[in-house]
Amino acid sequence: MSYRSGRHFLQIPGPTNVPDRVLRAIDLPTMDHRGPEFGELGLEVFDGLKHVFQTKQDVVIYPASGTGAWEAALVNTLSAGDRVLMFETGHFASLWQKMATKLGLSPEFVRTDWRRGADPAAVEAKLREDKAHAIKAVCIVHNETSTGVTSRIGAIRKAIDAAKHPALFLVDTISSLASIDYRHDEWGVDVTVAGSQKGLMLPPGLSFNAISGKARTASQSAKLPKSYWGWEEMIANGKTGYFPYTPATNLLYGLREALGMLREEGLENVFARHDRHAEATRRAARAWGLEILCAVPEEYSSSLTALMTPAGHDADKLRKHILEAFDMSLGTGLGRLAGKVFRIGHLGDFNDLTLAGTLAGVEMGLELAGVPHRKGGAQAAMDYLAACAKGAAGQRKAA
Ligand SMILES: Cc1ncc(COP(=O)(O)O)c(C=O)c1O
Repeated sequence: MSYRSGRHFLQIPGPTNVPDRVLRAIDLPTMDHRGPEFGELGLEVFDGLKHVFQTKQDVVIYPASGTGAWEAALVNTLSAGDRVLMFETGHFASLWQKMATKLGLSPEFVRTDWRRGADPAAVEAKLREDKAHAIKAVCIVHNETSTGVTSRIGAIRKAIDAAKHPALFLVDTISSLASIDYRHDEWGVDVTVAGSQKGLMLPPGLSFNAISGKARTASQSAKLPKSYWGWEEMIANGKTGYFPYTPATNLLYGLREALGMLREEGLENVFARHDRHAEATRRAARAWGLEILCAVPEEYSSSLTALMTPAGHDADKLRKHILEAFDMSLGTGLGRLAGKVFRIGHLGDFNDLTLAGTLAGVEMGLELAGVPHRKGGAQAAMDYLAACAKGAAGQRKAA
């Protein structure tokens, strides 16, 4: 393969583009993870993570991909045979359910058409039916990366409360944390699962659990076997910024930098930026005449948009044309969506021009691949972005 000039456009919904500042931070000599400097680094990243999870409670960091943090959430809180309520919102929710089964749990899996989130009313109804409180946890994927659908976690919390049910609430924020508003404490989530490679703008390799007091209490009597994933030693060591085993030191340098960048921009602004790019992408899709997979507007994802290609037009062929001609990677259709959708990631280190370039690549690709569409999607997005920029400039002037 010969050199291709310019930067590759990595517009899959994670791993996302790693900013230069983070790459430079990772590129430092590895330090002694038991030495005095390391504790300062550890304390700083735990503090920054709490800000991003919007929690004052414990957070642990695993040198693992997100799947590891899924497992940690289950094995620390549950025992063999426990019933858990899960919703089949897409490919990742299905994988989490499979993991729960493999671990010896008994998931009740509420089916959907992969075009909507977990329905708060269904959560309430299922929990009301469970008079004996046999259901020990409700597990929800906040942002389904395979479909571009965001479940309403605040509303699901209210549904659990309305049913007066004591189940733990476990939430996967792997593709929403630091992209879409998420409040671990306010929404009474017991375990939040997250990963490094999406909104946190890091390479893959770190994952996280944010843990409520209720989850910690549950962990005292939870019987699923655990060793590497056990919270107690992680939390005890974390109090002074250390780890019970060798941490991914250089990724933690990167994490410190990324958390600093998120603070500099301000979480509110980070969320608003993702909302703006998602809206611009949907405007492009409507102008092209392509259908958005998410069927419920209040559940549109701000971190990615999945678009359906017309029947008879393979979405992977379109992706291949775009990769070959314009050096841009888009997300493939996963599971039952293979060949039917492509996913545009608009999360992480991303700005208006990155989005304009991404959408220009998609529009040219639609033409190349012979996918029926109307022209002008990229322009519709640009018009929206320009109007937003004009509004922001007006606000700056008035201030
Ligand atoms: C929502 C969601 N959950 C879980 C995972 C699995 O995480 P990992 O691939 O980092 O193990 C992913 C990966 O993309 C995801 O998007």
